[in-house]
Amino acid sequence: MSDSMTIGLIYGSIRQGRFCDTVVNWVLSELWAESGVRVVLVDPRVLREQPETADAIKQTIEEADAFIVVTPEYNHAYPGALKELIDSCYEPWHAKPVGFVSYGGISGGLRAVEQLRLVFAELHAVTMRDSVAFANAWALFDAQGNPFKLEPARASLFLMLRRLKWWAATLKKARDVRPYEQAA
Ligand SMILES: Cc1cc2nc3c(=O)[nH]c(=O)nc-3n(C[C@H](O)[C@H](O)[C@H](O)COP(=O)(O)O)c2cc1C
Repeated sequence: MSDSMTIGLIYGSIRQGRFCDTVVNWVLSELWAESGVRVVLVDPRVLREQPETADAIKQTIEEADAFIVVTPEYNHAYPGALKELIDSCYEPWHAKPVGFVSYGGISGGLRAVEQLRLVFAELHAVTMRDSVAFANAWALFDAQGNPFKLEPARASLFLMLRRLKWWAATLKKARDVRPYEQAA
């Protein structure tokens, strides 16, 4: 593939005062120096508050080669607004890789991630086995918004990213070829 790719970085929470901002900002700061990667933010809060943006959001998802979903866990699941965003389009998800950064209480959001894998399978998307999970997340970030244990978090993120980029490059070439030009 060409040496440039677009990653859609997706917020999972729409709550006012969401911790999601801290985690998204950290991921963004880590991806900032990644060569050949452009990051676009996708926020389900925008879709919820301004439904007329649905077409523009669909276009953003269409133009992305890969996604990283930053999701919390609420009652053992991912937030409803994230599902609204995912359900707002269909083909733009096809044959693209999805990685996860999760956070929450004791589970670190892993149960939400496991459920999202089922959802993305229905959309012909490929989820990355490797993810980043922050258990009891609010105690893990310093005042600057960096994880206290930065290196292990970075190592997990970049392992996932390396594989995400491989899938993105591979699927970008393959997407126009059967059976994904008209996936049902
Ligand atoms: C109603 C409610 C249910 C929650 N359920 C879980 C849960 O099942 N597992 C978990 O790990 N954390 C749980 N949490 C903790 C949230 O994941 C945590 O508050 C997180 O910061 C929420 O994300 P946000 O601040 O970005 O909205 C729950 C929090 C609330 C308020």
